Amino acid sequence: MKIEFVAPDAAVEGRAALAVLAFENGALSAPASELDARTSGALSRAVADSRFGGKSGQTLDIIAPSGVEAARVLLLGAGDAAAFDHKGAETFAAAAYQAVKTSGADVLVVNVSGHGPDAAAHAALGVRLASYRFDRYKTTEPEEKKPSIQHVLIACDDPKAAKKAHQPLDALADGVFFTRDLVSEPANILHPEEFAKRVKKLERLGLEVEILGEKDMKKLGMGALLGVGQGSRRESQLVVIHWKGAKDPDAQPIAFVGKGVCFDTGGISLKPADGMEDMKWDMGGAGAVAGLMCALAGRKARANVIGILGLVENMPDGNAQRPGDIVTSLSGQTIEVINTDAEGRLVLADALWYCQERFKPKFMVDLATLTGAIIISLGHDFAGLFSNDDLLSERLVAAGKAEGEALWRMPLPAAYEKQIESLAADMKNIGGRPGGSITAALFLQKYVNGLPWAHLDIAATAWRKPSTQPTTPEGATGYGVRLLDRLVRDHYEG
Ligand code: BES
Ligand code: MN
Ligand code: ZN
Repeated sequence: MKIEFVAPDAAVEGRAALAVLAFENGALSAPASELDARTSGALSRAVADSRFGGKSGQTLDIIAPSGVEAARVLLLGAGDAAAFDHKGAETFAAAAYQAVKTSGADVLVVNVSGHGPDAAAHAALGVRLASYRFDRYKTTEPEEKKPSIQHVLIACDDPKAAKKAHQPLDALADGVFFTRDLVSEPANILHPEEFAKRVKKLERLGLEVEILGEKDMKKLGMGALLGVGQGSRRESQLVVIHWKGAKDPDAQPIAFVGKGVCFDTGGISLKPADGMEDMKWDMGGAGAVAGLMCALAGRKARANVIGILGLVENMPDGNAQRPGDIVTSLSGQTIEVINTDAEGRLVLADALWYCQERFKPKFMVDLATLTGAIIISLGHDFAGLFSNDDLLSERLVAAGKAEGEALWRMPLPAAYEKQIESLAADMKNIGGRPGGSITAALFLQKYVNGLPWAHLDIAATAWRKPSTQPTTPEGATGYGVRLLDRLVRDHYEG
């Protein structure tokens, strides 16, 4: 699908859908009024004869109105005209795409004239994010179920300025798509080595990618991560991604660490069959970090950033880790593995320790589909935020709000550490059902060595079914990429 910026009076070829805005009480935007005049009042009549009131989320589809060549005019509500901004433009364009994507129209014209180049750029971002499909393995899909829109024109007053403003947003969408693809792939295709290989290909953007295999990790002493992967036929991998975009390439970096469990059967503490297929996306944290690095490099962010991915497969097997096993982590701390299904924290324990020891970053943020309990606590509209640093937390919450990827801060009470005390080792890997997401985070905190750190539990947000936002079709969301790109942009680019 091609997306272009054009002037409002540009000629349109093909079977077109024209999307225009209306505001509260059905007030037509300037481009909508113009269409209304050309169609002898078809739009205002349609508004008067329906319940359409210009409220945000409302749409009115006017098919084959006389006076214009277009196949349909789509009127979208945007609520309060004074509050309409680039975010509104993004939603407007995404909703327009969703409304007509399989209508038979092959061109969608989204008219945002009157709203500046930033709104136009975000309209393009909205359409692109909305158009995501993972259809690689569909070979018999009937034509009428496939999207008919081939071409999107963003009609705006200054197409050149809009195109320029769109460049970094296009890189951002590349990052989100990279994450969505990784998260959507089944585990027979995307095992740790394949994941690492795909990330290695990002070197074309100027990233440096190092891949550590099991031998390397064994030498380092990563007993916690390796224990999780030891029942798998697939080799575990640790991927280290460097982006050196700051003026001084040796300046202290910031770091992001992702849980990449390419499939989580639970191991010997086997999960029930129902819904187990969802565990193909238990690498969503690592997927988000990879997508973030792709976005940062794609837009040449002026910051030094490290991305670390802990990639494993958690399988039951004759060689698998057993409940009761005691492993020695890279930090030297020992862990009694009570439940082999609490594996993400074991992977992150070594990845986090490695990250702080080698790179001494300003802070570390880890992302992980870590606990089912966070879904129970917060539902699907928030990821859980756990942190030892108030400033970093505030910045993350603000970035999430701005990008529509909400976070809710959860507590880290020292008293709950009692729940993960072990009789035989330095700690155990589960703390029982009460506060399950909190004890998981308290476990991780033992591996950050006092560095400013935040943990995002994205178990409820990495995958959405059904979709609830026009920019996020059902399935892999890419949650985290926009949020963290925003964090970097707002605070860490010099
Ligand atoms: N990957 C799961 C968490 C998860 C659950 C992610 C549902 C996405 C959707 C994690 O490895 C896990 O199995 N956690 C256990 C921990 C328990 C054994 C302490 C859980 O949440 O039940
Ligand atoms: Mn698990
Ligand atoms: Zn898991």
